[in-house]
Amino acid sequence: MNEVLMTIENRASCRAFSDDMIADEIIEKIAYAGVCSPSARNLQPWKIVVIKDKELINAMDDEGMRVLKAQEDPSAYNRFMERGGHLFYNAPLMFVILKKDNADLDVGIVAQNIVLAATSLGLGSVHCGMARIPFENLQFQQQVGINHQWQLGTTILVGHPAKEFTPHTPDLNKIEYINAK
Ligand SMILES: Cc1cc2nc3c(=O)[nH]c(=O)nc-3n(C[C@H](O)[C@H](O)[C@H](O)COP(=O)(O)O)c2cc1C
Repeated sequence: MNEVLMTIENRASCRAFSDDMIADEIIEKIAYAGVCSPSARNLQPWKIVVIKDKELINAMDDEGMRVLKAQEDPSAYNRFMERGGHLFYNAPLMFVILKKDNADLDVGIVAQNIVLAATSLGLGSVHCGMARIPFENLQFQQQVGINHQWQLGTTILVGHPAKEFTPHTPDLNKIEYINAK
């Protein structure tokens, strides 16, 4: 199997990160993989904001957990408490992808390029839809540049894994073929 296919097959969501920071040149390589993504009509309707400030990530984590704790349904809060009590699993880096014009597919491709680049460099990563919770707060919106022009697309957490995570078992029944008659 070639390296790209091995990276795709070996990727797994990382839900525990060590305290180690990532070198800037590695961060830049990952962000570069993001901007290499295809986009409809090559409009590139995105912006990648890399949060390297652990204090900011922690403040957003606290805010997210606070909101989850206040929810009537305790299941999400309990799930994150069982995983260590943090929405962002102690990740040292958050890649925030901002989008224009609801370009969700374009953003998803950027996100997966970032995840695969991180995997190929031996790092852990996880797509993090839950980051939308702290980003409902105006203060955090302003810090990453969410405004009338730039909406939150998605986020990815990246760092050194604190333990090993196993890829999910791919379901081959999800694939159908239409054969030549
Ligand atoms: C759009 C999207 C949002 C996700 N949001 C979260 C999240 O907020 N927190 C989390 O722990 N995992 C999140 N995940 C990871 C999924 O739970 C994970 O991909 C799925 O369980 C399959 O496991 P695997 O990634 O290890 O193959 C998200 C994945 C996607 C694609």
